[in-house]
Amino acid sequence: MATAPTPVPDGMRADVELTQRGRSELQFLQAMRAGLRPMQTRLRERLENGTALSGGSGDIAALRAAVDAELADDSDLGLIGAALRWNRAVLTPRAVDAFEDRSAELTAKAAPPDAAAITDRGEQHVPRYWRYEFHGTTGGWDGHEHMGFIHHELVYRYLLVPSFPGDIFQQRANVADLAPREDYADICDLGCGTGQFTMKLAQRYPTARLTGVDLSIAELRYAQRRAAEAGLSWDLVRAPAEDTGLAGDSHDLVASFILLHEIPPHAIRNVFAEAFRILRPGGDLVFSDVAPYHRRSPYHAWNDDWDAENGHEPWWRTAATIDLVAVATEAGFVDVRQEPLSESAYPWVTLARKPEGSAS
Ligand SMILES: C[S@@+](CC[C@H](N)C(=O)[O-])C[C@H]1O[C@@H](n2cnc3c(N)ncnc32)[C@H](O)[C@@H]1O
Repeated sequence: MATAPTPVPDGMRADVELTQRGRSELQFLQAMRAGLRPMQTRLRERLENGTALSGGSGDIAALRAAVDAELADDSDLGLIGAALRWNRAVLTPRAVDAFEDRSAELTAKAAPPDAAAITDRGEQHVPRYWRYEFHGTTGGWDGHEHMGFIHHELVYRYLLVPSFPGDIFQQRANVADLAPREDYADICDLGCGTGQFTMKLAQRYPTARLTGVDLSIAELRYAQRRAAEAGLSWDLVRAPAEDTGLAGDSHDLVASFILLHEIPPHAIRNVFAEAFRILRPGGDLVFSDVAPYHRRSPYHAWNDDWDAENGHEPWWRTAATIDLVAVATEAGFVDVRQEPLSESAYPWVTLARKPEGSAS
């Protein structure tokens, strides 16, 4: 019987064919996640009919302790946690295997047309926290030469797009739309990864010059390929977002999409300071990341935190509890405000402006 073609989500290649083994391994991981949902729904109903959520979402440690006590007799919680941890730990290795099964064909689709066009500030600028294992995978974002392709084309297609509510590509376009001006000449995307958000910025501001900064050379290679295939040329820099090496007062919009929850709090502060430094006076900051726990319902705050812990997201809790309005203000920004763009854990957007007359 003929099977219907898999719809190709925005920004993905239509021509990625995996072996049956590679495809079924990834589909199994997605099916496993979907299979946990009835248990998760039952736990949610139990919590919403109980007392553990009554203390609110302002103190996440207290909320976690209250839920642990209330669900102490419920074996499903531990089972779901173990399943999620395993799923996250094997996901990238399985995607790497799927790539390797067809490496002769896929390497040609993954290699950047001009790797030399990426400026690399070098290993000495890579912060210590980048070496930690996160997202459950050895090597993290750089664990394979073509991790950008593997992450974007395989992990996204098989797991993230089917698992997350809403359209995770449209979210990036919605954030790009929030920038207050129409006339940006120089835009910098911090933590640009494979260039998904960079592409939305490029589409929204077609005359602007785009610079993407990321620590992962593998992600940047894929971003370079994506830009070249769209007939675009971006300045791509391998550097920490908190120390980009870019000239001061050189951009009029500095933006980021889901970078901040990947880095510790001191690095978040330094990223705001660096954004201030590279912005021209009057320039705008638009950073989108996870929702603050105190603005989530108690159930959702608990679920975000529990899910992050079992999904190998070591910095999510600090990103969801740090006061980004205070951080931006301390960095020198004015007109600082926050806007939620959806009911889910993200995008939650922080907007700010570098005051006129305040050159770096
Ligand atoms: C969740 S991804 C988001 C990528 C991209 N913004 C997007 O919308 O798809 C986070 C990215 O942040 C990068 N990253 C993590 N820490 C960084 C740092 N200190 N400086 C620059 N990039 C960093 C990772 O390599 C990864 O590509």
